[in-house]
Amino acid sequence: MMNEEKKDIDILAIETSCDETAAAVVRNGREVLSNIIYTQIKLHTVFGGVVPEIASRKHIEKINPVIEAALAEAGKKLSDIDAVAVTYGPGLVGALLVGVAEAKAIAYGTKKPLIGVHHIEGHISANYIEHKELEPPFLCLVASGGHSHLVLVRDYGVYEIIGRTRDDAAGEAFDKVARAIGLGYPGGPKVDKLARQGNPRAITFPRAKIADAPDDFSFSGLKSAVLNYLNQCQMKGEEVNKADVAASFQQSVVDVLTDHTIQAAKRLKIDKVAIAGGVASNSTLRGQMKEVCEKNGKKFYYPSPVYCTDNAAMIGAAAYYEYMKGSRAGWDLNAVPNLKIGSR
Ligand code: KG4
Ligand code: ZN
Repeated sequence: MMNEEKKDIDILAIETSCDETAAAVVRNGREVLSNIIYTQIKLHTVFGGVVPEIASRKHIEKINPVIEAALAEAGKKLSDIDAVAVTYGPGLVGALLVGVAEAKAIAYGTKKPLIGVHHIEGHISANYIEHKELEPPFLCLVASGGHSHLVLVRDYGVYEIIGRTRDDAAGEAFDKVARAIGLGYPGGPKVDKLARQGNPRAITFPRAKIADAPDDFSFSGLKSAVLNYLNQCQMKGEEVNKADVAASFQQSVVDVLTDHTIQAAKRLKIDKVAIAGGVASNSTLRGQMKEVCEKNGKKFYYPSPVYCTDNAAMIGAAAYYEYMKGSRAGWDLNAVPNLKIGSR
């Protein structure tokens, strides 16, 4: 819909920070016209995790077909697009560089504005896609393979980190435990599935708290506790009930994530709580968060699983608010593997 007061803004967004080659066209930050994801998971499964060089090489092969598919599905030509957005960090440097170079080439060739997007700000913005009414301020738990953050979204593009992990990310813990019980990569969805057949109270694993930093997370002790449990069973010649291990481990992660989030929301007097990132697609986390938020009178927001794991639609959502604020990247935009949130 176009009128004289407000023109629709269609952004072509590109995401290549890890092992998904993704492109999307997003209108006004909230409406997904297309969302194409080429996942490299199968390619990396044999190695038990993402191999950076293989990821980069696959991105360079897939990026153009993925962008063509995104434009075609949206019924758009490059000339129809208002801006080109790309994830420039954090992530694997060689993987990020493919998307950044591609976005720069398209923006330069078509003389369109270029917008650099922080990957985590993208994950958070995934919540805008299906919750048209959601507006800042809100508190967002971001739990993915590389990050576990509690972020206060004060305004569009204005972020304050309330808590962070001191060691492993939540998704990383899922991946490591999955590997230890022989489920393979990526661990999160496999643990989630197996846990449905197990008893979450069968084994008591630790729920770490950090003195003086109630909003921070630590998952390495939990991971070690699971590995110790498995070793002890092996030494005693006892058979391991993998479903119970998966369910008990998952319950420990979910209890910690839920508890820290709700405590922070109460203390900060924030009445809207959202979740984001790959781990946000976990069924137990979604269920428990919903329950706890209802009990505490907080509104709860969560993206569909396809917008939780890496995708470009979320990058287009975040980019729209940057575009409206006038943020533009220069032709010297580079990949920043350890980019800090809110740095612009
Ligand atoms: O957001 P994402 O796709 O990539 C990063 O930015 O890291 O998150 C991937 C992570 C992986 O660690 C994966 O095991 C985890 O999210 N994950 C899950 C589930 N689906 C993906 N963890 C728990 N339960 C799930 N259902
Ligand atoms: Zn991610």
